[in-house]
Amino acid sequence: MDKRISLTLKHRPTGAPSAADFEAVEQPMPMPGPGEVLTRTLFLSIDPYMRGRLSDRASYAKPVQIGEVMTGESVGEVLASNAPDFVPGDAVVGSRGWQTHSVTPAAALVKLDRGAAPLSTYLGVLGMPGTTAYSGLTDIGHVRAGETVVISAATGAVGSVAGQLAKRAGARVIGVAGGAEKCLWAQEALGYDDCIDHRGMDIDVALKATCPDGIDVYFENVGGAVQAAVWPLLNPHARMIMCGMVAEYNHQRPAPGPNLMAVVRQRLRIEGLIVSDKPERFAEWRALAAPWVADGSLRYRETIIDGLENAPDALAQVLAGGNFGKMLVRL
Ligand SMILES: NC(=O)c1ccc[n+]([C@@H]2O[C@H](COP(=O)([O-])OP(=O)(O)OC[C@H]3O[C@@H](n4cnc5c(N)ncnc54)[C@H](OP(=O)(O)O)[C@@H]3O)[C@@H](O)[C@H]2O)c1
Repeated sequence: MDKRISLTLKHRPTGAPSAADFEAVEQPMPMPGPGEVLTRTLFLSIDPYMRGRLSDRASYAKPVQIGEVMTGESVGEVLASNAPDFVPGDAVVGSRGWQTHSVTPAAALVKLDRGAAPLSTYLGVLGMPGTTAYSGLTDIGHVRAGETVVISAATGAVGSVAGQLAKRAGARVIGVAGGAEKCLWAQEALGYDDCIDHRGMDIDVALKATCPDGIDVYFENVGGAVQAAVWPLLNPHARMIMCGMVAEYNHQRPAPGPNLMAVVRQRLRIEGLIVSDKPERFAEWRALAAPWVADGSLRYRETIIDGLENAPDALAQVLAGGNFGKMLVRL
């Protein structure tokens, strides 16, 4: 074969993407320059994040431009190399887009051990999705034995790994998946303690019944109705691993209400605070701040109302913005 075929973006999809949004472009086979490698694509990774790349809405990564080759990771085989570390026949993984062949700088490729695992796994369980599950549980989930962990898209590329890792940590692990067949596999093959079919069951009722002790860790992959069912069941100090919200990726506009996709995009950390949880902070703060109050460098203002009988009115005012600074009643 002396041609390379690439799929380029023809126009931005409305709703679900389809073949009509892309164009197959045939070009002569490219040749590698100095330090470059020509590869043939064996497996292309297909990932939910790609929907975001097709839209020109602000995100954490640049969208694909009209006429550009669609981005994506792939596993390939080296056909020709002008780089000392690669020889024909080597298997590699890298971000090379939706095309049959590509010329890539050697530095952008990782060589794979053909004997260690099937090559396709470097795009799934051993690749980006598996790493996502591992990173989410390690860096955010901090799962402890005996805790209840809920994982949405439980049998997907990320979820299937997350479920097994949470089981290894000794948690009680509940999956949410679409359909009886996926739920059966979640329990029989992946070891989930239970699995809720969000397409066939009332998710609110089923999740409540399956998590009688609440939820300690939620691995969020989907958003939408599943996320809404999780919120009321979260235990004190629960952790939400905000990985993705695939239920919304085809929407033209974000769903109404607080849209937590910003948490994923901006790596936000949202954490509740109850001051009395850390009583030691009171004395610590007084010691730190009293000198600043004394020397005038920590400024404050007070609204003082006289008379115990005016306390209810003072409360009403503080709720309505009638105070300027700290509201006090003087007796
Ligand atoms: N933050 C990161 O760095 C990062 C990295 C990788 C992936 N992700 C995110 O992780 C999530 C999972 O990615 P993946 O690659 O593992 O995909 P996946 O789970 O293999 O595939 C997506 C699954 O989402 C579920 N789904 C789709 N629409 C849904 C809806 N309306 N309600 C509930 N579930 C729905 C479907 O499973 P069911 O049939 O079981 O419902 C579908 O199979 C995505 O949100 C993705 O964007 C984030």
